[in-house]
Amino acid sequence: PGHGVTAVAHPNIALIKYWGKRDERLMIPYVDSLSMTLDIFPTTTTVRLAPGAPADSLTLDGSPAEGEVRRRVVGFLDLLRERSGRSEPAVVDTHNSVPTGAGLASSASGFAALALAGAAAYGLDPDRTALSRLARRGSASASRSIFGGFAVCHAGRGTGAAADLGSYAEPVPVPDFDPALVIAVVDAGAKAVSSRAAMRRTVETSPLYRAWATSGKTDLAEMRVALRRGDLDAVGEIAERNALGMHATMLTARPAVRYLSPATVAVLDGVLRLRSDGVPAYATMDAGPNVKVLCHPADADRVAEAVRGAAPGCSVFTARRGPGARLTGE
Ligand code: DP6
Repeated sequence: PGHGVTAVAHPNIALIKYWGKRDERLMIPYVDSLSMTLDIFPTTTTVRLAPGAPADSLTLDGSPAEGEVRRRVVGFLDLLRERSGRSEPAVVDTHNSVPTGAGLASSASGFAALALAGAAAYGLDPDRTALSRLARRGSASASRSIFGGFAVCHAGRGTGAAADLGSYAEPVPVPDFDPALVIAVVDAGAKAVSSRAAMRRTVETSPLYRAWATSGKTDLAEMRVALRRGDLDAVGEIAERNALGMHATMLTARPAVRYLSPATVAVLDGVLRLRSDGVPAYATMDAGPNVKVLCHPADADRVAEAVRGAAPGCSVFTARRGPGARLTGE
């Protein structure tokens, strides 16, 4: 058996959210998004080609991958085989460093690492833009984890091949802005509705979806300015309103998709109290009840303490900006 190719990638948290696909097969988002790649919880993935094997063999944290996860990874490997003109099955071994049950398992770090290791294993040599486009086919947020620091993912225009070509992520250079992100895991359980299904339902039925997508354009333009200025208050305010707006679209879907729990709201109240005490802290939430709080690194301990007080029993992690995906010499 040949040597495997190993890649590491980190999760990212969107400050301007992606929610909704205009092409589900090509995984093209409706809206542009912007994120910070984190320095914690990397995913490490090794891909080895297995000529003559009957099928792909996938292991996730030591156990065989099954169901939806297996289906998505095999679909992604099929895309690599189509691109490379090769047909060998692969052996894929993935390790997430997220503490088990932290409710933070990320398809972003997973598909970024798989895209990088898989492309190399199948002899493809994409540049970073092409790699990001490729990772998008696994999970749209994965396109951003190819890059370290801050990255913007373009939704692109048009349909079909043109849309595919136009939808990729690229770095947003902000050398001097290095905030902390305090992550409050208030519920580690699996989500009630997958983000994929929830997005579809939101786009199809929420009367607020279009309005949120439109205001997201202003949010993104203002976010770029705020980042360039290193203005934490402006970055935080824009990120918070963009995330609350995304959840408003879900709450107005039919039937409603509600990821926010009483503990989420308690942490949001804690964040407001911090602000009224003069501590700049701003919240963002994804497709789940956990809250990520943006703050100055010097305030991170105080923010973590406030979050623990607001939601007793939650787990708290502090992240900073992290690196892009990279191959490791095996
Ligand atoms: C709320 O990238 O996980 O975290 O493209 O279907 O794999 P798929 O969805 P995914 O959705 C992320 C949604 C979000 C916001 C964001 O990260 O931009």
